[in-house]
Amino acid sequence: MRKTERLKTERLDKLLANLGYGVRKDVRYWIKEGWITVDGKPATSPSQKVIPQQVRLEDTELDHPNGLTIIYHKPLGAVCSRKEDGRLIYADFPERWIGRKPLLSSVGRLDKDTSGLLIVTDDGQLNHQLTSPKQHISKTYAVTLDHPLEGNEAETFASGKLMLEDEDTPCLPAELSIFNDIEVSLILHEGRYHQVRRMFASVGNHVNILRRTHIGSLSLQETGLAAGTYQTIKASELIKLILPDTIPLQYT
Ligand code: URA
Repeated sequence: MRKTERLKTERLDKLLANLGYGVRKDVRYWIKEGWITVDGKPATSPSQKVIPQQVRLEDTELDHPNGLTIIYHKPLGAVCSRKEDGRLIYADFPERWIGRKPLLSSVGRLDKDTSGLLIVTDDGQLNHQLTSPKQHISKTYAVTLDHPLEGNEAETFASGKLMLEDEDTPCLPAELSIFNDIEVSLILHEGRYHQVRRMFASVGNHVNILRRTHIGSLSLQETGLAAGTYQTIKASELIKLILPDTIPLQYT
């Protein structure tokens, strides 16, 4: 069984607080009103130990009591970090999710002016696994450039020698596919700050439009998600979509 699964018993008030439903006082009131049941019987006390899957609030199962992972189509203009100003990606999710503990976080980041595929999860183990350089999870970006390509960019990016400003190790080889002289796709095997924009800046170009289309084998287009929308998914299913050939034991 995975570490994050909440199959063990927990205090009712703590469970509902960690899932973002309300504080201890709210739980007391809901119990008094008879709105909470545990295994079909009215809850008796906020400190009652419960199995999360057996709890119903107003006859409704709790919202993802085993942890929450989503595939999200980040729109342009939304920011991933809670510390930045502006419209947060979290505004696209149910308000209750903001109060969840552990916190929901994006797996890596897309900058404000980049749209596309983003995973958001409260599962620290999954987040670590998907960001670990050991997993070699590629990211594919669709790029529209300001100026036509010069012709040597694919070779430069594939060389493994491209140094970005203020960095002391070269970029790993990246694959450029050219659709026309301003529309390309770029596959990266690492994730440095603003990497795509900085790579094109280093060859004298400028990125006008940037969209992440794939994380590993997971394709944004195949999800059918419109910008600003998401779908929930089990961690084990997500791993199969991203890394179909390597299914780590803990997720089987
Ligand atoms: N590269 C960028 O420049 N921005 C992103 O958001 C992702 C990759």
